[in-house]
Amino acid sequence: SAIEKGGYDHFMLKEIFEQPDTIYDSMRGRLDLQAKQIILSGIEKYAHEISNTNRIVIVACGTSWHAGLIAEYIIEELCRINVEVEYASEFRYRNPVIQPGDVILAISQSGETADTLVALENAKKQGAIILGVVNVVGSSIARLSDAGAYTHAGPEIGVASTKAFTAQLTVLNLIALKIAALKGTISGERFLQLSEELHKVPEKVQWILDTQIEKIQQIAKKYKDARDFLFLGRGYNFPVALEGALKLKEISYIHAEGYPAAEMKHGPIALVDENLPVVFVATKDAYHEKIVSNIQEIKARKGKIISVVTRGDAVSESLSDDYMEIPEADEIIAPLISVVPLQLLSYYIGVELGLDVDKPRNLAKSVTVE
Ligand code: G6P
Repeated sequence: SAIEKGGYDHFMLKEIFEQPDTIYDSMRGRLDLQAKQIILSGIEKYAHEISNTNRIVIVACGTSWHAGLIAEYIIEELCRINVEVEYASEFRYRNPVIQPGDVILAISQSGETADTLVALENAKKQGAIILGVVNVVGSSIARLSDAGAYTHAGPEIGVASTKAFTAQLTVLNLIALKIAALKGTISGERFLQLSEELHKVPEKVQWILDTQIEKIQQIAKKYKDARDFLFLGRGYNFPVALEGALKLKEISYIHAEGYPAAEMKHGPIALVDENLPVVFVATKDAYHEKIVSNIQEIKARKGKIISVVTRGDAVSESLSDDYMEIPEADEIIAPLISVVPLQLLSYYIGVELGLDVDKPRNLAKSVTVE
């Protein structure tokens, strides 16, 4: 009903707009800026074992798997631990090498995804430590986990995940910072800097919601009839490009592919012509110059360029046919912010096309059978 949707037309839009609150909720009581520490009561008991592990294997499906890819970059950078990211459905059926002391990090909104659950059961039998990042309290994956941190995003009704994803990223950042501090792989200064950046994410997301909606609605109107979309990003924003493509497929039924921007030369660039919108996640980070040259390559082939840019980045703006702005953020934190315009873009394209964005055809909120 309208009341349940809090005045929004759809649960998906309500959940996108809840993100400043849900991101805050996922760090509340955990990120202590004064004491310069991170308290995660559900992992304290295993914190030393986790920080001493040689290997973390992240297991997830769908949007949660994309959060896992970003976590791989963050954990490797901050904690210097070898991380692998696996689709649960593949991991469970092959014969993976698991040794006692390996940490299996499970990411799941529902905590009930069958493939993820069985993959964990198998790994647990082989002596792995199961670390869960789960939204639904008391769910099967939460109960199976040795250690864990709930994402506290509240119930997510829209089938396409939005606020659960940003809550996962928030918690994964907290876990990485905590382990890095324990291992001594992060300086006190960098720890504080990233903690403060995390703390500022809710207001940065709020800025997008306050200032970018009209622009995104116009972009949605302009491109809603495209047959295909390409989403490109590099580094921490590469998985954001994958997530942008997944959201669009789920909500609008438009074919979309996400790719690492440099890898497009090995295939997708063949698709580029004046009918192909290419969405670049081109925020200011260490890869910025490189992605700008990728934008130029698409432009030279007459692709339509839609970019997510850092506010005031005149170079990316002038190269783009259309752009959506986000506030400046450290590259490690940026995915929490850069994904929001992409959630909104797919939402408004779905609405423009008159589709049931809260319950897309053929999709289930939680896949509890294989
Ligand atoms: C389904 C949902 C997705 C979700 C995926 C994994 O495909 O439609 O939104 O990302 O399952 O679900 P989980 O609950 O394990 O995060």
